[in-house]
Amino acid sequence: MTDRPQTKDAANSMWGGRFAAGPDAIMEAINASIGFDRRLYAQDIRGSRAHAAMLAAQGIISDSDAKAIGEGLLTVLSEIEAGNFPFSTALEDIHMNVEARLKEIIGEPAGRLHTGRSRNDQVATDFRLWVRDQCDAAIAGLQALIRAALAQAESGADWVMPGFTHLQTAQPVTWGHHMMAYVEMFGRDLGRFRDARARMNESPLGAAALAGTGYPLDRAMTASALEFDRPMANSLDAVSDRDFALEFLSAASICAVHLSRLAEELVIWSSAQFRFVSMSDKWSTGSSIMPQKRNPDAAELIRAKIGRILGATVALFTVMKGLPLAYSKDMQEDKEQVFDAADSLMLALAAMGGMLSDLTANRANMEAAASAGFSTATDLADWLVREAGLPFRDAHHATGALVALAEKKGCDLDELSLAEMQSVNPAINQSVYSVLGVHNSVASRQSYGGTAPDQVRVQITRWKERLA
Ligand code: ARG
Repeated sequence: MTDRPQTKDAANSMWGGRFAAGPDAIMEAINASIGFDRRLYAQDIRGSRAHAAMLAAQGIISDSDAKAIGEGLLTVLSEIEAGNFPFSTALEDIHMNVEARLKEIIGEPAGRLHTGRSRNDQVATDFRLWVRDQCDAAIAGLQALIRAALAQAESGADWVMPGFTHLQTAQPVTWGHHMMAYVEMFGRDLGRFRDARARMNESPLGAAALAGTGYPLDRAMTASALEFDRPMANSLDAVSDRDFALEFLSAASICAVHLSRLAEELVIWSSAQFRFVSMSDKWSTGSSIMPQKRNPDAAELIRAKIGRILGATVALFTVMKGLPLAYSKDMQEDKEQVFDAADSLMLALAAMGGMLSDLTANRANMEAAASAGFSTATDLADWLVREAGLPFRDAHHATGALVALAEKKGCDLDELSLAEMQSVNPAINQSVYSVLGVHNSVASRQSYGGTAPDQVRVQITRWKERLA
């Protein structure tokens, strides 16, 4: 960074009229945000161009000044994009860096750009535009991820795997059903980003420092130029709330929890003890010492990203709590948190989408595991209720006795002989074996939202229509 255009000891050329001397070096270091808020350059220039055009349309500045400002800002934009913009810490932030450079390029008219505007409404506008873009990116990332999970569900709608509670085998489910559980979660995440986007889509521009302005601004004009639905209705609120960023972070945190749980399952499922899935080479790493290793690093890192994203969320909630209206400089601390959380989320979404697309589910291993652990014991109890007329509690007890018997013999439930079954309950007959296989078990779970392949396919179709 350079110290253009001022020297160390000079007062700030943007706001230093009442100051005899420039800031202490440490003051400058704690005060400056240009090191990170330069990421807002495109939004800042877009907002300024909309503001200048509106000032001219309202007769507040001349058309020729507005034209010079508009064109000069495009030159600034291309300089930043080409990587040869002289960023200055002394100029604090992106807003003053852009305006100072504009003045170097076009001279006097640059000084008219800030008419009827403050950095307070300027930064609120820039940041809203940036977070709005991130909502769109999250929505696109989630749609790709949902498509990948749907494709997995479709190819294995009737592949049987163990369903777990307490990570103990509970009842058989299908691979498709398990994948569709994540489709539902990611679908709600998508809805949260859409809701947040819709709510944040109002323009703070024209709120000025906090009280509005005496200039005859057309706030609806700048709002529409920036594709906001309308101007915000209260100038104090417009410059002082960051709830849009908190909503984005909250939605990101919940989404990151979902990603983390799926990542954890992939870590478990790809282990030698499970072998339910094989990750493609593209998403695995080796060990520098153990030649046999194939580590699910991407899944582990996705699992960990929630730490940063939730950390950012807690940080911004903490910054905002207790701030009196309207703007306080504390709010400059909003950006790095949101930037880091957004970067982490987009990377995690892209990695999970890619990993899931390239993942191979091992049907035979899942099916073998599904029948272990007496996973159809509930089906046996249900048979006793239905066919032998037992109250469920008694059926549960009798089934427990049969499980104990099978465990003692070291066999599965369907390997007990009819005589052994009848020793526990004489009403049991041959037809009991028809409910004991894992395929019978899943096919019988026909309740809406249940794991029966027919039901899973109903949900796959619904989602494909929803995404089309
Ligand atoms: N860099 C500042 C921020 O990010 C811009 C607003 C500064 N406003 C002010 N009154 N000092 O919040």
